[in-house]
Amino acid sequence: MVQDLYERVAIFGAGLLMTAFFLAIVVGAFGLGIRVPTCVTDIPPFDQPAVVEVAPGQYVANVVAQMWLFNPREIRIPAGSLVTFNLTSKDVQHGFKLLNTNVNMMAVPGVVNRAQVRFDQPGEYLIVCHEYCGLGHHAMSAKVIVEPRAAGDQGPSPARAVASALACWAR
Ligand code: CUA
Repeated sequence: MVQDLYERVAIFGAGLLMTAFFLAIVVGAFGLGIRVPTCVTDIPPFDQPAVVEVAPGQYVANVVAQMWLFNPREIRIPAGSLVTFNLTSKDVQHGFKLLNTNVNMMAVPGVVNRAQVRFDQPGEYLIVCHEYCGLGHHAMSAKVIVEPRAAGDQGPSPARAVASALACWAR
């Protein structure tokens, strides 16, 4: 079999490149610990969607939308709470409309959208998906349940925070 010189150079060069690329992958993965991007719903906090109290009267709700529910389905907080919603999706695009508030977001895979609301009025606030997402779209909902505070429990309010700061300062 006769091989042209240039043919041999090309074959050898291609082999060299393949080896170099393979070594780069091995060194990157095992030597440098480089990992390919992971789905955002596989890592904290979205691997375990929940509502957490981060400070008195302040909550963070990490919500995952998926066909055809929101996780968590119920967000229960006392009246007067400030809630930060971090929202993402596990599959397709969903909507996140929190009725009787100005919160209206999209749940997009790989993206985290955020909104903050203070719930002063006790009651139930419905969350609905308003982006068509398949067969169960019309049934996709969740709710925020704002519980009334016990009598005498004023809760953390900005006015009280300012008053206590002023009292401190006046001393
Ligand atoms: Cu989810 Cu429509």
